Amino acid sequence: MNEKNSKDRNNLIKDKSFLPDKAISTRGLEKIYNVKGDRDIHALRAFDLDVPRGVIFGLLGPNGAGKSTFINILAGLVIKTGGKASVWGIDIDQNPRAARSAIGVVPQELNLDAFFTPRELLELQAGLYGVPPIERHTDDILKRVGLISVANTFSRELSGGMRRRLLVAKALVHNPPVLVLDEPTAGVDVELRQSLWEFIVELKNNGTTIILTTHYIEEAEKLCDIVAIINDGQLIASEPTKELVARLDNKELRISISEKIEYIPFSLKEHNAFLTNKNELIFRYQTSKTEIGSVLKAISEAGLTVNDISTKEPDLEQVFLDITRKLK
Ligand SMILES: Nc1ncnc2c1ncn2[C@@H]1O[C@H](COP(=O)(O)OP(=O)(O)OP(=O)(O)O)[C@@H](O)[C@H]1O
Ligand SMILES: [Mg+2]
Repeated sequence: MNEKNSKDRNNLIKDKSFLPDKAISTRGLEKIYNVKGDRDIHALRAFDLDVPRGVIFGLLGPNGAGKSTFINILAGLVIKTGGKASVWGIDIDQNPRAARSAIGVVPQELNLDAFFTPRELLELQAGLYGVPPIERHTDDILKRVGLISVANTFSRELSGGMRRRLLVAKALVHNPPVLVLDEPTAGVDVELRQSLWEFIVELKNNGTTIILTTHYIEEAEKLCDIVAIINDGQLIASEPTKELVARLDNKELRISISEKIEYIPFSLKEHNAFLTNKNELIFRYQTSKTEIGSVLKAISEAGLTVNDISTKEPDLEQVFLDITRKLK
């Protein structure tokens, strides 16, 4: 790449005093895909989103919601139809190259050149981003993602998990302040998922802003400071994860009883009770309206004996289902 691009990148990375409040900001973002011989697809509609600097930000939404489209617009891989977007405070229309150098993207698809080794691929990528050889830290990155032992192996010989880590490594070569991971742990085993999570948190602790899309709601709940929910190209919610979960004012109470029963006693029906098996009852109730005491009293009045009690707090999965169900 040319000298100007290299300067843009250097100015960005080296000027540590340049710390925008928003790592990403979009206003009125629109994307319409024109499909030949078929109807157009409106993939993003009036999309306004802010991602504060320094957080792990989760994008959730069903298949086809527009998550990858959004990410690919930021990365300069998809051309938006309308609206404005900035990365690290840099407008993607006014200064596309500088905006691109502020972001690293780990794509959803595992697209790697089969006949290159991890070391070669990282060197190649660094060259594409105009990182001078003296500033490259290829082996350092390979160590961080646990690929140094296969640095000289053809990527076609790597396992799926290793390829995914290699994609993460590729996105890091130009040391971007914003890292976007599109479904980083899809099809990845439990152990690797844990190690990717640790790595993501480590990056955040070192000051990188992380945006990830995921279908694993548990992943979003565990990792993300803020979660946005997208449905059909529209932003439905964008809130701190804890606040989003607290929105659901319902709890679940599980009670196992000594007696075996076939039907729920009539007096318990009004308490919203379900029978899971002959000696376990589930009550769903709103914490703001129902006291557990009144449920227990009703159980004893129905002549049943409580063996064990457990409660379940609402989680992000319930919030997600609740929000997306309401839209249908
Ligand atoms: N290159 C393209 N050409 C035409 N339509 C496209 C293209 N890419 C995406 N779309 C359409 O745009 C919509 C949004 O797709 P997108 O890939 O952004 O969704 P997503 O939220 O990432 O879904 P997933 O969870 O399945 O990855 C979908 O209807 C999809 O079919
Ligand atoms: Mg996608």
